[in-house]
Amino acid sequence: MLILLKINKMIDYLNKRLSVLKINKIYLRLVKIYLFFFGEKNLGDIGFDFKNKPSRIEIVNRIIKLQNYSKYLEIGTFKDELFSKVICNNKVGVDPFSGGSHRMTSDEFFLSNKNKFDCIFIDGLHHYSQVKKDIKNSIEILEHKGVILIHDCLPNNLLEQQVPRMTTNWNGDVWKAFVECRTKVDLDCYTCNADWGIGVIFKRKNSNLLKIDQQDFKKMKFKFFFNNYKRLMNIVEFEDLLKKF
Ligand SMILES: C[S@@+](CC[C@H](N)C(=O)[O-])C[C@H]1O[C@@H](n2cnc3c(N)ncnc32)[C@H](O)[C@@H]1O
Repeated sequence: MLILLKINKMIDYLNKRLSVLKINKIYLRLVKIYLFFFGEKNLGDIGFDFKNKPSRIEIVNRIIKLQNYSKYLEIGTFKDELFSKVICNNKVGVDPFSGGSHRMTSDEFFLSNKNKFDCIFIDGLHHYSQVKKDIKNSIEILEHKGVILIHDCLPNNLLEQQVPRMTTNWNGDVWKAFVECRTKVDLDCYTCNADWGIGVIFKRKNSNLLKIDQQDFKKMKFKFFFNNYKRLMNIVEFEDLLKKF
């Protein structure tokens, strides 16, 4: 038992060291050089500017208040920057490394969880396949009239969306999982133009169905996002989003 605990601690420690390495400056420079030669070419910044937009803290709290929600779930809590400021009667935060209330991965949480939630904020591992799983699992435990929010849906450039992680500000390819939802008839999806893009999913008839010729969403290129993000993401300002509830 003691040996198992020690092994567990060692794995935890190595994982933390690895995530530091991933944002090490030399590593980032090497990656930039690699992308310069082998990545998608001639793509600059899209120009999203979230400076004068509401923060995710304001957005989550206004939605909870407006809808009188009482059960909040956050996947990926990190330093509790959001989790600690959310005002809600019942809060659950899931993260394998830090913050929140449950020390485990989202997959482990969904396997054992028996509760339903009104508002679910997905901000864990920013890889298409993981976000897709987190969305699918969240839909199953969403209360009637509830909402799913997905952080980091609007990457400004290729580096910010690159998987594996290559920048300190990292969106990953979360947008691909969101675009897939936009093609479903029973999900109504918007992206709030704030705080690196907050995807919003309602479990109801899609009011603006996206039709694209795409079988494998993971294979979508950043260039496709760069040229089509308005149509793909169904972007709205926060005040207009509030009218969709
Ligand atoms: C961007 S941070 C979350 C920030 C936080 N939501 C906030 O608004 O301040 C991402 C977090 O996801 C966590 N994470 C990574 N993989 C995960 C997984 N499979 N399940 C749940 N959380 C995960 C990381 O440990 C990290 O703390």
